[in-house]
Amino acid sequence: MQASGSSSEMRFSALFFFLGAITVLGILLILMIIYWKFDKAKELMKSMLRNKRLEASKNFLNGNLRTISYFDFNTLKKATKNFHSGYLLGRGGFGPVYRGKLADGRLVAVKKLSAEKSQQGESEFLSEVRMITSIQHKNLVRLLGCCSDGSQRVLVYEYMKNRSLDLMIYGKNDQFLNWNTRFQIILGIARGLQYLHEDSHVRIVHRDIKASNILLDEKFQPKIGDFGLARFFPEDQAYLSTTFAGTLGYTAPEYAIRGELSEKADIYSFGVLVLEIISCRKNTNLTLSSEMQYLPEYAWKLYERSRVIELVDPRMREDGIVENDVLQVINVAFLCLQPHANQRPPMSEIVAMLTCKVKTVGTPMRPAFMDRRNKRDENLSWDSISEPFPSLTRSDSSSLPPQPPPN
Ligand SMILES: Nc1ncnc2c1ncn2[C@@H]1O[C@H](COP(=O)(O)OP(=O)(O)OP(=O)(O)O)[C@@H](O)[C@H]1O
Ligand SMILES: [Mg+2]
Repeated sequence: MQASGSSSEMRFSALFFFLGAITVLGILLILMIIYWKFDKAKELMKSMLRNKRLEASKNFLNGNLRTISYFDFNTLKKATKNFHSGYLLGRGGFGPVYRGKLADGRLVAVKKLSAEKSQQGESEFLSEVRMITSIQHKNLVRLLGCCSDGSQRVLVYEYMKNRSLDLMIYGKNDQFLNWNTRFQIILGIARGLQYLHEDSHVRIVHRDIKASNILLDEKFQPKIGDFGLARFFPEDQAYLSTTFAGTLGYTAPEYAIRGELSEKADIYSFGVLVLEIISCRKNTNLTLSSEMQYLPEYAWKLYERSRVIELVDPRMREDGIVENDVLQVINVAFLCLQPHANQRPPMSEIVAMLTCKVKTVGTPMRPAFMDRRNKRDENLSWDSISEPFPSLTRSDSSSLPPQPPPN
C-alpha cells in the first residue's frame, strides 16, 4: 500500500518538474522572440533614420549648381583601405589626406577634417560644402563630395596625378619643370585667384596660398586647393592650424602683425610663391648663408645690384630661358610683395601683366620684412657678395625691371 503511494507521488513530482521545465522554456522562447523582434525593429528604425539623414543631406546638396556626392563613411573606409597609412598623401593643419579608389575606379583625395578642431554641426558643415561646391573654375581643385557621420567630417576631392607643387620645387622628387611649364603654372594660379577674388559669386580670400596648396594635374595644369577650408573651423584656429613656420614666410605683414585680412594678403603670398617657382627653393631656408635665407629679401638685394637673374633655377637657365620673360615675371612678383596692401595690384591686373596685355606699371617698392637685421650686419653680409659682377644690362637693358628708387 505504502509502496504504491510513494510511486504515485514520484510520478506526480516528475510530471510537475516536466511541466515546470516546459513552461520555463516556453517563457524563455517567448522572451527571446520578443527581444529579437525588438532588436530588428530597432535596427530597422536606425537604418530608416540613417537613410532619412542621408537622403536629407543629399537633397540639401542637390539644390546646388552641380550635384555633389554624399559619401557613406564605409564607402570611404573601403576606398582608402580603412585609412591605411600606405595611402596617406600628407597631413596638413586641417587633418590627414588619403588617396582613395572608389568602386567605379575613380581616384580621389580624401581629407578627414580634424574633429576636435572643427566642432561644426552637420547642417553648418553641409552648407559650407554647398557653398564651396558652387565655386568652380579650371584652376581650382574640384570638391567631388563629402561625408558627415557622427563627429566625422570628410571632404572628397578629385585626385591630382602630379600631387602638389612643393614636391616639384623643393626637390622632393626629381621632376624638372621647364620655363614654359612654370609660366603656365604661375598664370594658372593667378587666374584661379582672380576668380576667387573678383569673379565668383562669393568673394573668397584663400588665406593659405603656398606651394603645397597648388595641385598639378596630369598635364601640369595648376589647381588651387583648400580654398574655403577656413570656413569649417573657428576663426581663431583656421589661421593658426597650418604648419606655421612654413606658412609664415608667405604671410603678408598686415595679416601677420595686425590680423588684417583681405585679397591683398593672398596677393602677397602669390608674390612669394612666384619667386619660389622661379628659383626652385623655399621662401625660408635657414641652412643657407644669412643673406640668402629669406627669399624675397635675397631677391630684392640681387635686384638692387642688377643681378636678379641669378635667382633663376640654374637647371632652368641651362635648359634655356628668354631672360626678358623671366624678368618681367619677377617684376610682377615684386609688385605683389610691396609692404602696403593698397600698393599691390589686384589679380586681374596681374593676369593682364603676365599675359602682356598691359605693361608692368610702376616701380616696385622694397618688399616687406626687409629691416630685420641692423644696418651693420646687413652691410657685412652683403659686402661679401657685392663684388663687381657682369651686369644684366649687357644682354638687354630694356628687359630689366625699372631700378628701385634709392632708399
Ligand atoms: N586633391 C589632391 N590630389 C593629390 N594630392 C593631394 C590632393 N590634396 C592634397 N594632396 C596631397 O596631400 C598633402 C597634404 O595636403 P594638406 O592640404 O592636408 O596639407 P598642406 O597643404 O601641406 O597643409 P594645409 O593644411 O595648410 O593645406 C599635400 O601636400 C598634397 O601633396
Ligand atoms: Mg593643403
